[in-house]
Amino acid sequence: MLKKKDKYVVAVAGATGAVGREMVEILQERNFPVSELVLLASENTEGERLKFNDRTWVVKRLSEDSFKGVDIALFSAGGERSLEFVPAAVKAGAVVIDNSSAFRMDPKVPLVVPEVNVHVMAKHNGIIANPNCSTIGMVMALKPIHVKARIRRIVVTTFQSVSGTGKKAIDELAGQTVALLNFRDIEKKVYPHQIAFNCIPHIDTFLDNGYTKEEMKMANETRKILEDESVRVTATTVRVPVFRCHSESVNIETDVKLSANEVRAILSEAPGVIVYDDPKKDLYPTAIDVSGKDDVYVGRIREDESIPNGINLWIVSDNIRKGAALNAVQIAEELIR
Ligand SMILES: NC(=O)c1ccc[n+]([C@@H]2O[C@H](COP(=O)([O-])OP(=O)(O)OC[C@H]3O[C@@H](n4cnc5c(N)ncnc54)[C@H](OP(=O)(O)O)[C@@H]3O)[C@@H](O)[C@H]2O)c1
Repeated sequence: MLKKKDKYVVAVAGATGAVGREMVEILQERNFPVSELVLLASENTEGERLKFNDRTWVVKRLSEDSFKGVDIALFSAGGERSLEFVPAAVKAGAVVIDNSSAFRMDPKVPLVVPEVNVHVMAKHNGIIANPNCSTIGMVMALKPIHVKARIRRIVVTTFQSVSGTGKKAIDELAGQTVALLNFRDIEKKVYPHQIAFNCIPHIDTFLDNGYTKEEMKMANETRKILEDESVRVTATTVRVPVFRCHSESVNIETDVKLSANEVRAILSEAPGVIVYDDPKKDLYPTAIDVSGKDDVYVGRIREDESIPNGINLWIVSDNIRKGAALNAVQIAEELIR
């Protein structure tokens, strides 16, 4: 358990990655009470310097000995590193907020979106998991609807930006775009197909059931966060040539009939959700508009005319902020509250 203090020693494992850098920025933006920042990454970036609160902090190499004196450890260095180093951090007395998928479905580990299920945090045993970036955006909008009308089934298709794969994928999209516009051959290292000017229906690895791990993460994590195993979820996850923000087309079927206006009213009251929905004025959220924003934006709210109790929604959220770094820092804020 975390001892209450005026300021905390905070470690960021994966501090030089797309998410880790944003974590450091958000800790500063939100004035998180940090006495010392421990920046950890691989040997590739050991010695790199990052700015935080008008000081320069040197990146050190992640090891089992990195966590002496650390109060809160934000992990964002991939699942394998979490499996290897999170136990050492917990043993050293830190509370870990893990951004990877390593512990999310462990029944002993709370899977938390603060606006949705903050109450489950109390049961943590040293590890709190941050959900998948696509799951966070979706449950932020669906939880208040579930409370009012009980969602029976969710059909979701995602349009996920390359930053969801990390910094190498951002470089790959930029590099391929520049190459193609200059009539040069492209390099493919991160994705199995060209990502520039393309859509790839393949995120994470394929499983025996034909779904990808990302698709099953969305189904399983959604049920865990909504605390309702009866909700049926089917997902198709697609990587698109967008740098930042994940967009999702979501169709839900509810027990209780809701009109589109009732859904707009429910979501207007939901914390961290912005209804941005006026098609006559061409108003609906896009990845470009939502980039860098903290809230989850919802538009194109309409009744599904093919079933009695169906609603369609278009949900956009910044995968690096609310989908990862911001949600983790919000969990840390709840820990010290
Ligand atoms: N990107 C997203 O939208 C998003 C959303 C939710 C969750 N996540 C999860 O967050 C984690 C990081 O994602 P990312 O997008 O930030 O990836 P990234 O840009 O590739 O960054 C990975 C980070 O992990 C570090 N790292 C890699 N191998 C390491 C090792 N052997 N020892 C120590 N550090 C090592 C890297 O350090 P170097 O710079 O030294 O290589 C870098 O700091 C992943 O688990 C991912 O699934 C990402």
